Amino acid sequence: MDASDYIAINKALWDEKTHHHMDSEFYNVAAFLQGKSSLNEIELGLLGDVKDKSVLHLQCHFGQDTLSLSRMGANATGVDFSEVSITRARGLNEQLGLDAQFICTDIYELPGKLHQQYDIVFASYGTIGWLPDMQRWAQVVAQFVKPGGKFVFVEFHPVVWMFDYGFKTVEYSYFNKEAIIETNTGSYADRKANISKTEIGWNHSLAEVIQNLLAAGLSISSFQEYDYSPYNCFQNMVAVAPGKYRVSGLEEKLPMLYSLVAKR
Ligand SMILES: C[S@@+](CC[C@H](N)C(=O)[O-])C[C@H]1O[C@@H](n2cnc3c(N)ncnc32)[C@H](O)[C@@H]1O
Repeated sequence: MDASDYIAINKALWDEKTHHHMDSEFYNVAAFLQGKSSLNEIELGLLGDVKDKSVLHLQCHFGQDTLSLSRMGANATGVDFSEVSITRARGLNEQLGLDAQFICTDIYELPGKLHQQYDIVFASYGTIGWLPDMQRWAQVVAQFVKPGGKFVFVEFHPVVWMFDYGFKTVEYSYFNKEAIIETNTGSYADRKANISKTEIGWNHSLAEVIQNLLAAGLSISSFQEYDYSPYNCFQNMVAVAPGKYRVSGLEEKLPMLYSLVAKR
């Protein structure tokens, strides 16, 4: 398979996943509709007060985080390349009577479609692994941050992606050596979901992310690593506290997440 087809292949995967995710306990849309925020402590702390701020949310999936920001008073815009996700996001926006905007596009095409800058650009949990080129990504991010604004990013740690699905063996390079092409069944949000589709991703080291953000003209004001995930989204995870999950057997040893704030 040719990795250059990654947009069409991953889009089909995310369109399919969206249907299952909307019905999953993981995303708990019912609780969300009743007012529960989908945002976690980590990003809430880094985002700060978003009231009356313009926020661009990259790779928003079906919009829960974008809409949570909108509920907090932000003027929020979510972007995703999955038509199914964006249609669902717009539906939730209407159902909740919010005024978030949603744009359906590949992240790399966004500069041709959006001509505005934002107080905050935000992306989180499972985003850059779908993108091949961190230089282009960082340039897109930087272009949309207003002077004086910030980029808030929370992502799974690249060490996590070195392992096989069950965290038993190291299978992949820490570094971005090549496209990783796999056919997996189920989904992190519903392991029993009847999905069996090819996906194409890339591992991005911390230096690859940080150096490209710096080269794009941003300065990093905060960088943290965390030994837990707020999501029970991998195999063999154990809850070590409410909303804090680690990999069983490797509890104290693995970094699970990192966060950064970059300013312009
Ligand atoms: C794991 S989800 C994002 C996580 C989000 N925090 C959530 O759980 O709702 C990844 C999202 O990236 C989107 N995506 C993947 N590749 C993309 C691309 N090239 N351009 C835009 N969106 C993309 C997918 O459609 C999916 O909705």
